[in-house]
Formats: sequence, C-alpha cells, structure tokens
Amino acid sequence: DWNMPDYANEAIEKVRAQVGQEEVILGLSGGVDSSVVAALLHRAIGEQLTCVFVDNGLLRLNEAEQVMLTFARNLGVKVIHVDATEQFMGHLKGVSDPEAKRKIIGREFVEVFQAEAQKLPNAKWLAQGTIYPDVIESAGSKTGKAHTIKSHHNVGGLPETLNLKLLEPLRELFKDEVRELGITLGLPHEMVYRHPFPGPGLGVRILGEVKQEFADLLRRADAIFIDELRAADWYDKTSQAFAVFLPVKSVGVMGDGRTYEYVVALRAVETQDFMTAHWAELPHSLLGKVSNRIINEVRGINRVVYDISGKPPATIEWE
Ligand code: XMP
Repeated sequence: DWNMPDYANEAIEKVRAQVGQEEVILGLSGGVDSSVVAALLHRAIGEQLTCVFVDNGLLRLNEAEQVMLTFARNLGVKVIHVDATEQFMGHLKGVSDPEAKRKIIGREFVEVFQAEAQKLPNAKWLAQGTIYPDVIESAGSKTGKAHTIKSHHNVGGLPETLNLKLLEPLRELFKDEVRELGITLGLPHEMVYRHPFPGPGLGVRILGEVKQEFADLLRRADAIFIDELRAADWYDKTSQAFAVFLPVKSVGVMGDGRTYEYVVALRAVETQDFMTAHWAELPHSLLGKVSNRIINEVRGINRVVYDISGKPPATIEWE
C-alpha cells in the first residue's frame, strides 16, 4: 500500500542513483508512457535528458506542436523535433500490405532515431516507456505462449546497436499507475488519459497505400471526431476512438453539383484489455454532428460511416 507522491520521489531518487552524471536519450511519441517517462526523467536529471520526437507524417493533427508546447516550451525539456515525413512517405510509396507497412514504419523509425542518437555521443542511456504488461507480454512471447497477430512497433534492437544501457523507470507499473504518476508529476489530464495510438499511426488507418493527401484528410476528420467526443463527454467513456480512411469514392450531392469523393469510417470501442472490445453505442445525435462536420469541413470526404463490429471477429484497427 503506497501513495503516488512517495512513489514518484522514490522513482526520481532511483533514476538519479542509476544514472549519476551520465546523459540519457528518450524517444518521445506523444503517448502516455513516453510522456510520463519524460516528465519523470526531467524532474530527476533535468538537462542530462534529451528527447527525440520523430514526426513520421502519420501522427494526429497538431501532434508535433502539442508535444513541443507541453514538453519543450512549458516544462523546459530538451526536445529534438525531427520531421521525417518525406522519408517515411517515400518508403511507403506503392506499399499496400498492412504488415509490410508496419515493418517499413518501424524500420524507418529506428533509422531516424539512430541517426539522431549518434549526434549525441555523450549519451550512455536509452530510456523507454516499458510498463509492466509489456514485460509480461514479451516474457510470454519468448516461451511461445503469446503470439503476435499484428507485429507491434518494436525498437528492441536499439540499445545494442547504439551501445546504450536501458533505462525503464515504469517497468513495475500498470497503466493506471502510470497515469497516476503522470498526474502527480504535473502532466495535463488530457495527455495522461489519452487513448492509445498505434506506433504505425495513421499508416494503418489509411487502408492500402499511404498517400500524403489521404493522411491530411484523415487527420482533419479524426480531429473533428475527437473534438466532438470530448465536447459531448464521451471521450473518457470510450477506450479508443478514431477515424479510418477508406480509399473508395462514392457519389454525393452538394448544392447543384454531384460529388465523387472518399469515405471515412468512425471507430469507437469500449474494452478493458483491448483483446476483446464492444463498439461504443454513441448517441445518434453525436454521430450525426460528427458526420455533418466532417462532410462540411473536410473537402474530399462526402460520406461517413460508423463501424459496428465487435472484436472478435473484427480487430479494433482496420489493418
Ligand atoms: P487490434 O487492431 O489488434 O488492436 O484489435 C488492439 C490494440 O493494439 C493497437 N495496435 C497497435 N499498436 N502497433 C502498436 O503500437 C501496432 O502495429 C498496432 N496494431 C494495433 C490498437 O490501436 C489497439 O489499441
């Protein structure tokens, strides 16, 4: 039975003892785990921490700005912002298989991150937001118990190639404890209670080949959906919610004209463990408002559908 402020102080002391005067690198993604690690390490070792934020061009709307605002501007954390959009888009050109896309995005991430890490020759540590369930999951997969249906974003080889020691200050915490720690460290509620976002990002929410134009449309549609969920107090009642870009065109009418544009699917689920999930029974009025806004505000989308598939048999993501 412990309380979080005490735990935070102990964790800070532990990091200081472990790291001493050495420098640490952290890949900051905008997700809960790496954000909490950044806040904790900044509190513990200040200037000895350098974060690397890689924009792969597949992030949510204004993600880079928000990360830079929260960490660099407000907290004074050293953050290197790498815009690698063109590199990722270039390698994804012509690729439509979901697993192939995941592999490319994972590989390019490692490459970009490694190049940045090499610019910091004094760094001795690589910090990661590994939490207790990740520890169990990877132990399971070594014994062959857990099998991966979708390969997850994996940066497993990084510490070895970079010759860095691994720093995993959240290793003994469950997700709800990580969130509590984040709040204790002063991170904003919206950041700490954010829905999970997959490593490959919009890359697996644009079905088939990823194109810049599709990513731009999807980002805007997704932001409208999330805005309206928050405004209607539904965000915290869903475990994950997002828009999916369907590269099919359908016919519509607007004013006197006929349109022939793309479709966006909305997905919102309720789940405890993400292994099974129910589609969220969002109010029709909310769905209607989201649909109207997307179609009116995002030129290029003329139809919105709602995904009412459970997991199983459907997965949460569409790829
Ligand atoms: P599925 O689609 O398998 O998703 O029902 C279950 C949870 O896992 C997330 N997910 C991923 N996360 N890399 C990630 O980091 C991935 O490749 C990936 N694929 C799915 C998904 O968002 C959901 O929370």
